[in-house]
Amino acid sequence: MLQSQMLGPLACLVSFVTTSSLAAVVTKVTDLPTRDFDFVVVGGGTAGLAVANRLTENPKYSVLVIEAGGSNVALFDSEVPFFNGHLFNTPADWNYTTAPMAGIEGRSVGYPQGHILGGTSSMNGLAYTRGSSDDYDRYARLTKDEGWSWNNLQPYFRKNERWTEPVDHHNTTGEFNPAVHGFHGINAVSLPGFIYSFDRRVIQATSELPREFPFNLDMNSGHHLGIGWTPFTIDGGVRSSSATSYLAPQFAKRPNLHVLINARVTRVVQTGTSHGIPVFKGVEFTEDRTPTASRKLLTAKKEIILSAGVIGTPHILQHSGIGDSALLSQVGVKPLVNLPSVGKNFTDHPFVANTWLVNSTDTFETALRNETLMEQQIKQWNESHTGPYAAATFATAGWLRVPDNSTIFQQFEDPSAGPNTSHFEFIIANGKTRLPLPPTGNFMVIGTVVVTPISRGTVLINSTNPFDPPVINPNLLDSDFDLFVMREAIRSARRFAQAPVFSDYVISLVDTAVTDAELDEFIRSTAITVSHCVGTASMSPKGADWGVLDPDLRVKKVAGLRVVDSSAIPVVPAAHTQAATYVFAERASDLIKAAWVMA
Ligand SMILES: Cc1cc2nc3c(=O)[nH]c(=O)nc-3n(C[C@H](O)[C@H](O)[C@H](O)COP(=O)(O)OP(=O)(O)OC[C@H]3O[C@@H](n4cnc5c(N)ncnc54)[C@H](O)[C@@H]3O)c2cc1C
Ligand SMILES: *[C@@H]1O[C@H](CO)[C@@H](O)[C@H](O)[C@H]1NC(C)=O
Ligand SMILES: *[C@@H]1O[C@H](CO)[C@@H](O)[C@H](O)[C@H]1NC(C)=O
Ligand SMILES: *[C@@H]1O[C@H](CO)[C@@H](O)[C@H](O)[C@H]1NC(C)=O
Ligand SMILES: *[C@@H]1O[C@H](CO)[C@@H](O)[C@H](O)[C@H]1NC(C)=O
Ligand SMILES: *[C@@H]1O[C@H](CO)[C@@H](O)[C@H](O)[C@H]1NC(C)=O
Ligand SMILES: *[C@@H]1O[C@H](CO)[C@@H](O)[C@H](O)[C@H]1NC(C)=O
Ligand SMILES: *[C@@H]1O[C@H](CO)[C@@H](O)[C@H](O)[C@H]1NC(C)=O
Ligand SMILES: *[C@@H]1O[C@H](CO)[C@@H](O)[C@H](O)[C@H]1NC(C)=O
Ligand SMILES: *[C@@H]1O[C@H](CO)[C@@H](O)[C@H](O)[C@H]1NC(C)=O
Repeated sequence: MLQSQMLGPLACLVSFVTTSSLAAVVTKVTDLPTRDFDFVVVGGGTAGLAVANRLTENPKYSVLVIEAGGSNVALFDSEVPFFNGHLFNTPADWNYTTAPMAGIEGRSVGYPQGHILGGTSSMNGLAYTRGSSDDYDRYARLTKDEGWSWNNLQPYFRKNERWTEPVDHHNTTGEFNPAVHGFHGINAVSLPGFIYSFDRRVIQATSELPREFPFNLDMNSGHHLGIGWTPFTIDGGVRSSSATSYLAPQFAKRPNLHVLINARVTRVVQTGTSHGIPVFKGVEFTEDRTPTASRKLLTAKKEIILSAGVIGTPHILQHSGIGDSALLSQVGVKPLVNLPSVGKNFTDHPFVANTWLVNSTDTFETALRNETLMEQQIKQWNESHTGPYAAATFATAGWLRVPDNSTIFQQFEDPSAGPNTSHFEFIIANGKTRLPLPPTGNFMVIGTVVVTPISRGTVLINSTNPFDPPVINPNLLDSDFDLFVMREAIRSARRFAQAPVFSDYVISLVDTAVTDAELDEFIRSTAITVSHCVGTASMSPKGADWGVLDPDLRVKKVAGLRVVDSSAIPVVPAAHTQAATYVFAERASDLIKAAWVMA
């Protein structure tokens, strides 16, 4: 509606396009033109829609995507970048809660995951960070497949990325390095389209304290250490998700691409045996989300591709009898394929918010406390996709290391992927966004995040009912290394806040912990997850006695089944995880195409 106001004569074009984009998306099996598909992709999320798009570039391949959530189209809180937290505990969220975690005083925390077309890319924080070149070179080493190295993945980064001007059209010279970006990919990426004076102070602080906090022109260049501007998946002030990009109208109209939404997959099913190996080309699902609905079965001609995400994928595998046989027997699920690593090595980034009171009213709290102002800003976004809500909830970030001579390295081997990879991140925000706000005060918030954690958790089923959530335990801050890094990250953030540029800005630090013991208490009592999680269906070398997937993402010990999503990533990158997920999906698509060309 808003678009029609803006575009006037183009309005009917917009509505035509919207209708035709819906044509590929149906809610009933009987609305599908066929039941014969070469590939069935389970989960229309970040990775799933990317794979479906690339496979259907070949008009001979028919693809069905089965997605549990609903449509993303015209969902306001998904579109508005600043509202990225608004979809938690709505129908667009799986509403998971973690198990109690010993490392955070036995607390359970909310564990959002996208339950919507586009998956978590339709509701995440939009930051687009690749990590370090070391991260990807480690994937290559760990899997013995050079195809996963930073250099060899460059074409896939560029296939994903469509670098785009920010909606405020400010001059971005000096804010990024064009040489390392893709300008012709599918998923829009841009620098922040609304900048506060605070963000410029952050950049100035890097020139005042360059030894500890050097400016980094481009954190996505492979050398990510330092502080700089963060790119986001935002297109002209509107979220760019895998649903708005890889399933944009020009792709959704492909006659060989079909998407069934509101349909929940319960299991993948063995359909035969080939050379003594079980073939899993069946997929069992229900058309609505109720546990009592009748289960339907479809068989893929070529492959089933699991893209149900870091929770959904191990959940489905275990309910299908693929996992740790001893554990499955205990729960009462008949074990079919013993792969003990399913649901293990679950790795996530712990987050602590550090808060300073500042002498400014130009922060997030001002509008969040003033309904009139907020209305004005929303109206501005509605009319032109500009203003504060056209940007995400932070603009700058830092990627930093603890010193090489830290005593902790006498106890732990450095878990970072290399000497140019950060141990911790600063997410630097112009105020608080988490409600309820305190009644007064304006703030600066630096989120400190441990990006090379040693702690490992699990995602394990605990019943035979696929409609029961699995037990999700990211095991945050289980390792003393992670706690050490978080303490040092907090101390580092406090040094950053002492840059001269903040002397007339910062009034006081709100947090009171100082000693190791006080910081540990502060950390353990406030840490939450940022949901940058991977590892629950990890790749490993062919023939390895651990791992779930071969380096070509085929599930070990079975035929007809691959996993393409964040669960396949063996070690969490020192980054927010969507860029890595998209890049895995892009390369996986080429691997799948190549396998069937040769077949
Ligand atoms: C709150 C939050 C904020 C984040 N912020 C950022 C950020 O700022 N930047 C960043 O890079 N990363 C961020 N991430 C992480 C990033 O979004 C994820 O790593 C990435 O989107 C995961 O993609 P995926 O394809 O593995 O899974 P998803 O995108 O979650 O896709 C899985 C899909 O499968 C569907 N599905 C699951 N089970 C079934 C089933 N049984 N039947 C049918 N369908 C099913 C789901 O509904 C979903 O659509 C954030 C994550 C969260 C939760
Ligand atoms: C999540 O919670 C909301 C609010 O209670 C609810 O409407 C929604 O259906 C829930 N999501 C799922 C997948 O159950
Ligand atoms: C942008 O800024 C750079 C450096 O400050 C300058 O050289 C360039 O001319 C500017 N570009 C435009 C279009 O103003
Ligand atoms: C977890 O991953 C590591 C490699 O990072 C591997 O050595 C180990 O065996 C894995 N553990 C399980 C249970 O899969
Ligand atoms: C805030 O700034 C104003 C003017 O810039 C100054 O007069 C005032 O003393 C400052 N307040 C604090 C608490 O620093
Ligand atoms: C709220 O915002 C409006 C619009 O900018 C402004 O006129 C008003 O003074 C603000 N109210 C308060 C209490 O600051
Ligand atoms: C902005 O648009 C949304 C979605 O169409 C609508 O719900 C909301 O009322 C609008 N708000 C304003 C202030 O225009
Ligand atoms: C590490 O080295 C720095 C500078 O070289 C020194 O100031 C510091 O005390 C050393 N720290 C430890 C734990 O040895
Ligand atoms: C780390 O980065 C620097 C340049 O910033 C480079 O000279 C050095 O070789 C890198 N080290 C490793 C081990 O990659
Ligand atoms: C697992 O299921 C059992 C039996 O229903 C229940 O008693 C137990 O609390 C569950 N464990 C978790 C961690 O949810």
